[in-house]
Amino acid sequence: MNTKVWKVDKYVDNLENNPQVVDAANFLRDNEVVALPTETVYGLGGNAKSDAAVEKIFAAKGRPSDNPLIIHIADKNQLKAFVAEVPEKAERLIEAFWPGPLTIIFKRIEGVLSETATAGLATVAVRMPDHPVALALLKSCGLPIAAPSANSSGKPSPTTADHVLDDLNGKIAGVIDGGATGIGVESTVVDCTEAIPVILRPGGVTKEQLESVVGEVHVDAALTDEAARPKAPGMKYRHYAPNAPLFMVSGTAKFLQGLVEEKRQEGLRVGVLTTEENARLFEADVVLTCGKRAELETVAAALYDTLRRFNLEKVDVIYSEVFPNTGVGHAIMNRLQKAAGNKLIIE
Ligand code: TXA
Ligand code: MG
Repeated sequence: MNTKVWKVDKYVDNLENNPQVVDAANFLRDNEVVALPTETVYGLGGNAKSDAAVEKIFAAKGRPSDNPLIIHIADKNQLKAFVAEVPEKAERLIEAFWPGPLTIIFKRIEGVLSETATAGLATVAVRMPDHPVALALLKSCGLPIAAPSANSSGKPSPTTADHVLDDLNGKIAGVIDGGATGIGVESTVVDCTEAIPVILRPGGVTKEQLESVVGEVHVDAALTDEAARPKAPGMKYRHYAPNAPLFMVSGTAKFLQGLVEEKRQEGLRVGVLTTEENARLFEADVVLTCGKRAELETVAAALYDTLRRFNLEKVDVIYSEVFPNTGVGHAIMNRLQKAAGNKLIIE
């Protein structure tokens, strides 16, 4: 398959009628799959009502079929077609955070969306992305769009159209290149089917932000306890992994540098994932900086690109700094833990 690339400047007016966006929307209406920029990561979109379209998403990504997709909408009014009930707390979260990096789990009306998209669950995950190109595409096609991150299953999520093409060129109808995404980690997934909302996946909206709107918020036990079974099916898979084994290192720079030297003596090509503040403290074959510690948003924005760059550098092993587990650091550490398969070395 020849994968089309539509270049779209997100700052131009009237994006909904932009010929590139309209062309991509026509592919979606024909049940083809198209990658699109959002404010978090690139998504791989398909008509959420069509089994044929949704099956193409799963096939292109090599995604396990028990892992349901997030449904993307451009307008809150689209909810009533397939959501059984919008609880009062969910309503408040929608008012506060949509459009934005918050996915809400609702009880589902059966028979509207593809059962493949929802993996047969009684619930459905929905979000309204805060990206002008994504919103224009959703409006232009007039459909609810199922869209997981547009990477091959297991790889780091894509934050540029080039990342999408690295994984999916030839496997999808097209990609809208709207530049690099902003936030860099996926949306927060919050289950609002119970009295107290539960975070199933930390992301762009922090626990503190959610609590400021709805009071008490729980965190799924699986996010802190490795033995617990996660409620978001996707959270049980190893994810975001670079090709080389990745170790998180909790300790001083001197300790991390010692680990690097041991491996270099064994003749291995060693990578270090660090930050702008600390880069000068390390000497290794490949030292990549991932934003600034003092501004964790910049770390989130650069994380997946940095993990992908280690693959291009063909390192044998990677040691990474760790980050504070608060605010957006919660999402960063969650993704780093998954990329590392939880391998943590403590000084
Ligand atoms: O930022 C994002 O959310 C990106 C962009 C493209 O919107 N999308 C994304 O989708 O990250 P994906 O498929 O990579 O992750 C969806 C997560 C998975 O962990 C999945 O198991 C969970 O949401 N999920 C989907 N439907 C669910 C449901 N009904 N109940 C619990 N978890 C659900
Ligand atoms: Mg994903």
